[in-house]
Amino acid sequence: MTSHASHLTAAAGSDAEGLRHVAIIMDGNGRWAERRGLPRSMGHRAGVEAVRRTVTASLDAGLGYLTLFSFSSENWSRPPAEVEFLFGLLRMFIRRDLANLHRDGVQVLVIGKRDGLPSDIAALIREAETLTAENRRLRLIVAFNYGARDEMVRTVRRLADKVRMGSLDPSAIDEPMLSANLDTAGTPDPDLIVRTGGELRLSNFLLWQAAYAELVFLPVFWPDFDDTHLNAAIEEFASRVRRYGGHAARSPA
Ligand code: IPE
Ligand code: IPE
Ligand code: MG
Repeated sequence: MTSHASHLTAAAGSDAEGLRHVAIIMDGNGRWAERRGLPRSMGHRAGVEAVRRTVTASLDAGLGYLTLFSFSSENWSRPPAEVEFLFGLLRMFIRRDLANLHRDGVQVLVIGKRDGLPSDIAALIREAETLTAENRRLRLIVAFNYGARDEMVRTVRRLADKVRMGSLDPSAIDEPMLSANLDTAGTPDPDLIVRTGGELRLSNFLLWQAAYAELVFLPVFWPDFDDTHLNAAIEEFASRVRRYGGHAARSPA
């Protein structure tokens, strides 16, 4: 059996070989609402339901890590009312869903810049991370106020500070050290990045971590996303051959 075929077999069993971490760019809320003649905010609200469905589907699929891009460092350029609405949805999500997530064994982690966030949001994030710190069934990583370039700049500054203090030799800086100092420290790189909404770009999401991720772009708007879309993306992942610059692994003849 070729490795390709064995991957497909694995997908049929719903947990594709080598798939630990799925990261999703949840895009298309505004267009979903506009198509219905609704304000964009209604699309964002419907998007929270899709988040709940996706967490459940990820638990069912046995994923170890699910990262969701919910607010980018560039989304501050939207009208203040929309930004405030999105912040309100994060508050509501943590308040309403934290207990259920904890019950289901989900560890909640938040990546992105904390400085400059409203203090009550920062407190809710700390509460969610503290309560769920020991959970291991699924890691739910919420990218909020996150931008990959901002993450890298904050990381480089921190390392540069250590060099200045004399506690770090620049020659000791290598790829594992950089990885270990990003917001995603301790999290394996995403195997699969899914973007909904039809745009074919990463929009400053996990640029370092995405080095060898498989990319799947779906035309579905985020509020319509459900387990069938997640499972279709997983199946697509299972049909890909990952080479990491080398040759495809071959099973013995
Ligand atoms: C994604 O939906 C949610 C965020 C970026 C916060 P959008 O609001 O970007 O929706 P579209 O892309 O305009 O349809
Ligand atoms: C990416 O979507 C950010 C999130 C999904 C949170 P955007 O809608 O902000 O991306 P662009 O502006 O189309 O690149
Ligand atoms: Mg968008």
